[in-house]
Amino acid sequence: AEYETILTETDGAVGIVTLNRPKALNALSAQLVDELVDALGAFDADPAIGCMIITGSEKAFAAGADITEMATKSFWDAFGDDFLAKWDRVGTMRKPVIAAVQGFALGGGCEIAMMCDFIIAADTAKFGQPEINLGVIPGVGGTQRLTRAIGKAKAMDMVLTGRMMSAEEAERSGLVSRVVPAAELMDEAKKAAATIASRSLPSVLAGKESVNRAFETTLSEGCRFERRIFHGLFATDDQKEGMAAFVEKRKPSFRNR
Ligand code: HXC
Repeated sequence: AEYETILTETDGAVGIVTLNRPKALNALSAQLVDELVDALGAFDADPAIGCMIITGSEKAFAAGADITEMATKSFWDAFGDDFLAKWDRVGTMRKPVIAAVQGFALGGGCEIAMMCDFIIAADTAKFGQPEINLGVIPGVGGTQRLTRAIGKAKAMDMVLTGRMMSAEEAERSGLVSRVVPAAELMDEAKKAAATIASRSLPSVLAGKESVNRAFETTLSEGCRFERRIFHGLFATDDQKEGMAAFVEKRKPSFRNR
C-alpha cells in the first residue's frame, strides 16, 4: 500500500511502522490513523511477521490527536461520525505490538502507546494526557488504560493537571517496561520484537490473549481462562518440539502450529 503519513518496513519477522508527520510532531490525523490501522492489520495477517513495532521520531512519538482537525467539530460531528472509533483497532491486533517511544507521547499519542502490548521508552520520552488544557479529556482509553497501568493517584494527577511524566517516572510507575538511552531505542525494540517473533506463534498469541484477560475479568475467571488455553497448547506441535528440545539439550525449531 502507498502511505503518506507513515513509513513501513520489515526487519526479518518484525514489522515496523514509523509515524511520519514530522512537521506536526506526528499529530494523529484521521488519515494517519487510517494508515496505521491498515499497516498493522496487513502485518498481523502476514504469516512472515511475528511481532510489530510502532515508533515515531526523535522529537515525538506523537503529540496527540491533530488539534487543527478537531478544533471546530460540533457534538454531532464527533458523535455522528463516531470520532476516534477507528483508533481502537490498534489495540485489537492478535500478534504483539511494541511501542518504541522517544520524545513526546501526549494525549492520543500516549493512548496509542498504551494500546500496544508494552512500551519501551528512550530516556528522552515524555508521557502525558494534556487534554484538560484543551477543555476536553482523553478519548481513546487514556483514563482507563493509564489508571490500570499506574494506579488512581498518578492517573488522576496526570489527567487533571495535564503534566508530563519523564521516562524515569514512567518506568517507576509501571507505564513502560524498559528505559534505554535514546541511541539504543530501536535496537532494543527490534531485539525484543525478534525474540518474540522467534517463539512459537500459538503460545505467543495465547500469552497475549491471557494477559489481556486480566483487564477484563475476575482473578478466578482469568485463571480459568489461562488454564484452558494452557491445556490446549498441549495439542500443538510446538509444545512437543519445545519440550523435546529441552530434554535433548538443543534449541527448539518451532513450526508455529
Ligand atoms: C496538531 C500539533 C500538535 C497536535 C504539535 N503540533 N502538536 N498540531 N495537533 N496535537 C504542531 C504545532 O502546532 C507546530 O506546528 C508543530 O507541531 C511543532 O510544535 P511546537 O508546539 O512548535 O513544538 P514545541 O514548542 O517543541 O512544543 C511541543 C509540544 C507542543 C509541547 C508537544 O507542540 C504541544 O503542546 N502540543 C499539543 C499537545 C497536546 O495537547 N496533545 C493532546 C492533543 S488532544 P507549526 O505549524 O506551528 O509549526 C488529544 C486528545 C484527543 O490527543 C482525544 C483522544 C485522541
